[in-house]
Amino acid sequence: MDKGQRTLIKLKSSCKERLPHFVIVGFRKLKDLFAGIIFQFNLSKLAKFYATDKWGRHSYTPHYQFFLRKFKFKRIKLLEIGVGGYEKSDKGGKSLRMWKKYFPFGHIYSIDIYDKNKLEQNRIHIFQGSQIDEEFLSSLINKIGRPDIIIDDGSHINEHVIKSFEILFPYLNPGGMYAIEDTETSYMDAYGGDSVNIDNPNTSMNYFKSIPDRINNDRFEMDDYQKISFEDDIRSIHFFHELIIIEKSSN
Ligand SMILES: C[S@@+](CC[C@H](N)C(=O)[O-])C[C@H]1O[C@@H](n2cnc3c(N)ncnc32)[C@H](O)[C@@H]1O
Repeated sequence: MDKGQRTLIKLKSSCKERLPHFVIVGFRKLKDLFAGIIFQFNLSKLAKFYATDKWGRHSYTPHYQFFLRKFKFKRIKLLEIGVGGYEKSDKGGKSLRMWKKYFPFGHIYSIDIYDKNKLEQNRIHIFQGSQIDEEFLSSLINKIGRPDIIIDDGSHINEHVIKSFEILFPYLNPGGMYAIEDTETSYMDAYGGDSVNIDNPNTSMNYFKSIPDRINNDRFEMDDYQKISFEDDIRSIHFFHELIIIEKSSN
């Protein structure tokens, strides 16, 4: 950090101490409004503004923008697993605020294992529950309706990633997109992945790597083939660095 940056930080914190609270809140709201207008077509800039690691630490936002631009001005429903901030009830929600700005008519839903309802806003709805609790997830969908976009940025435990996909993908609207973030955990023992055996059949990467074959299931004959009930609704699957994107519609 150079001298100029240090002076700016000092100036900011001394202003914060002196200004009345309503002025600070008003200034924040104004900043938020301008970010929404200036960066609204650039998801990476919005990610940077809201400090979510979907851009920076990871490089997800250009891929998201490519797949999601068709929804930009639609009244979509987006469901993200994982609000962020873990047990801290007032921390997190960074990506939810980014999505809210990118989709000006969309409703943003999110679930977290911890109570995060302090972070709710107009068009941001948060529910507490686990990504592997089938009863919770189906009653949630009953309440909110079928999502157009689902993003798994939750526990990243391999078994959870697979289970959430099997529960939630059937509820995704046709034409919709399902994303799984942080797939590097497929190679991490702490997340139920495998750091030494790349062919371990229980990892999330190996589960999703079977999908390109499943898309062609009308072209092979195998007596012991175990079909996933919804595999004919997978239109395409895309593997990126630490990210998988799956599109839904009849294949
Ligand atoms: C990486 S953070 C999410 C970050 C956020 N999506 C963003 O981009 O700003 C992961 C969140 O998932 C939550 N989580 C962990 N296990 C979960 C589970 N089984 N079900 C739902 N949420 C879970 C954690 O509490 C944490 O807040």
